[in-house]
Amino acid sequence: MYEFLTFYHSIFRWLVLLSLIYSIYRACKGYLSQSSFSRTDNAIRHWTATIAHLQLVIGMVLYTQSPIVKYFWHNFNEAVENLDSLFFGLLHIVLMLLAIVILTIGSSLAKRQPTDQEKFKTMLVWFSISLLIILIAIPWPFSPIANRPYFR
Ligand code: HEM
Repeated sequence: MYEFLTFYHSIFRWLVLLSLIYSIYRACKGYLSQSSFSRTDNAIRHWTATIAHLQLVIGMVLYTQSPIVKYFWHNFNEAVENLDSLFFGLLHIVLMLLAIVILTIGSSLAKRQPTDQEKFKTMLVWFSISLLIILIAIPWPFSPIANRPYFR
């Protein structure tokens, strides 16, 4: 179960990143060229948020199964000194939750904007902030805090 969840959570990160980057690209292009906010743009906005929500669910289940997280909460005083367990026990979840809340707010605000230009601009700003936080909170193989492989 744990290996299965880690595998999907790791692979799913690429879908989260690709959908977010593509949404930001569409929003930027639409805003700069003053295009109309098409049904496709709206579907991309919706699916980007949904993909992030699925990753959130996988992450939450993984959180209950992870031996690193268990070690963190059972040996709190000693575990906060260890960067890897501090990262997965606290930092990763706090930053990712923040990023997904920002993405969700951005998505629903964009939907409610009165003009197409404002829809693109709202999506561009909120989704970019969310992407930045996600990029910081991913345990990249080159990260000095906690590193995991690109693919499991
Ligand atoms: C956009 C959101 C997220 C992304 C892109 C993401 C990405 C990742 C990646 C790439 C890993 C390393 C996987 C590996 O070991 O190969 C990881 C680990 C982990 N993630 Fe996330 N994550 C996200 C959200 C969350 C959330 C919201 C939670 C908890 C509620 C969570 C809990 C965990 C846990 C517990 C691990 C470590 C598992 C372990 O090694 O025991 N993640 N995440």
